[in-house]
Amino acid sequence: MGTDTAEASASPAPVRRPGRVVVDWLTTTDHKKIGHLYLVTSFVFFLVAGLMAMVMRAELARPGLQIMTNQSFNQAFTLHGTIMLLLFATPTFAGFANEIVPLQIGAPDVAFPG
Ligand code: HEM
Repeated sequence: MGTDTAEASASPAPVRRPGRVVVDWLTTTDHKKIGHLYLVTSFVFFLVAGLMAMVMRAELARPGLQIMTNQSFNQAFTLHGTIMLLLFATPTFAGFANEIVPLQIGAPDVAFPG
């Protein structure tokens, strides 16, 4: 009595459903999983936009060095800025909000997950 045995644990063992991982991600209402989806996806976009930053750095490394056309540079600049702000910074904020705020305020979940 009072020991940390199996019958003392309140929640049942999680049901394993191999092969349903992606469906699980797409249909989950667990705020921690949703937060993870935001954070992982936005980090991928951070790497994509970071690649464009490196291309721009290479283009600007020496005067007269031309590794891409003027139009390509403008496109890389625009995509880098847009992706960094809209697809990295904003979703990262949403990810932390979903993941952390319910834990901070002691709520079981967010009111409308997403
Ligand atoms: C969260 C937002 C952003 C992050 C984390 C970020 C990150 C970076 C990083 C790490 C570099 C490489 C710096 C270097 O090569 O010295 C870079 C370069 C650059 N970024 Fe961003 N960036 C962001 C937003 C923007 C925005 C909004 C614009 C403009 C619309 C922009 C324009 C540029 C340009 C032109 C370069 C090349 C500059 C150079 O290498 O001389 N970035 N960015």
